[in-house]
Amino acid sequence: MKPATKYIHAGAHPDPSTGAIMTPIFQTSTYVQEAPGKNKGFEYARSQNPTRTALEEALGIIENGRFGLAFSSGVAATDAVVKLLEPGDEVIAASDMYGGTYRLFTKIFEKFGIRFIYTDTTDANNITKVVSKKTKLVWLETPTNPLMNITDIARVATISKEAGAWLCVDNTFATPYLQNPLDLGADIVMHSSTKYLGGHSDVIQGALVMNDAGLREKLYFIQKSCGAVPGPMDCFLMLRGIKTLHVRMKQHCENGKVIAEWLRQHPKVAKVYWPGFTDHPGHATAKKQMKDFGGMISFELANDSPDETMRVLSSTKLFALAESLGGVESLINHPASMTHASIPKEERIKNGLKDSLIRLSVGIEDADDLVADLDKAIG
Ligand SMILES: Cc1ncc(COP(=O)(O)O)c(C=O)c1O
Repeated sequence: MKPATKYIHAGAHPDPSTGAIMTPIFQTSTYVQEAPGKNKGFEYARSQNPTRTALEEALGIIENGRFGLAFSSGVAATDAVVKLLEPGDEVIAASDMYGGTYRLFTKIFEKFGIRFIYTDTTDANNITKVVSKKTKLVWLETPTNPLMNITDIARVATISKEAGAWLCVDNTFATPYLQNPLDLGADIVMHSSTKYLGGHSDVIQGALVMNDAGLREKLYFIQKSCGAVPGPMDCFLMLRGIKTLHVRMKQHCENGKVIAEWLRQHPKVAKVYWPGFTDHPGHATAKKQMKDFGGMISFELANDSPDETMRVLSSTKLFALAESLGGVESLINHPASMTHASIPKEERIKNGLKDSLIRLSVGIEDADDLVADLDKAIG
């Protein structure tokens, strides 16, 4: 099936008791058993819920994977992946990535004896330099949040396989519409489904998708043992969001291109980060592994002043100043003080994330209105 058909039909089975075309919201914590151990495949809702089962089937299908697992947030999904590891194991992670992932790694898991090595994964040779027998997981984000760096997934998959390590790709920015990491050799795809999969800024949720049945068993065991599962109402909203992923993504990409090109010619804008530009260092790789370039853009003002940055951030009317991304409405964000505040300043600056960086999540409104809004704010 082609993506558009998959997104609409993935996980959808008319309800056997009523014929309802939409998966019902099974708002229940438990299931009545005929006799001890004799049940209909559902025992307790932390372990199984039919609305979640439908969503997990859909997640697998849309990422070209065999198995999907849904979590109560993106970080809960990341947390489950790291719990595959043992004290003494090493993780190689991208030096530029979502601040909450960095916080989870450094502030929660380091104290349990897992070692995280951060490197610039845009050059895969940097991974080869630090990989060792202890490497059990390679963690990538591509494009990265917020600097839109691109890493060659297929190349890193080869390095990870040779090292006997799992490769997990955070595919939140690209979405399955633009990029399918499992097809490129990754072992696990992770999503903050909160973003483009849900698409309407009304759900917090995470996802993992994989092909290997043994890996699925391990991750399912962690999911039910640690309990970070999403509720049935949220699973229903996610199923509904996924149905329109392709139409939304087409418009995000179209609007993203208009805004990125407009920003780039603006005299008050110094630098625009967007992988669709032919001179973006990761453009060739992005073109190879992505269908289009998305609606996430970061930029710096020519006059690198904190006051001016704050003024622009507070001046837009359509672009709402808020954390998060990937919804139908446009958002503007200040990574240094908002989404990436958990990364120490020296570390941020070393990785190229300046205090003056502004991040846009370009929504699917009319592009002319979005340009006019930015034009007024930048002045
Ligand atoms: C790239 C990326 N990964 C992971 C997360 C964490 O997801 P959640 O906020 O759903 O826990 C985010 C959240 O902003 C993100 O942008």
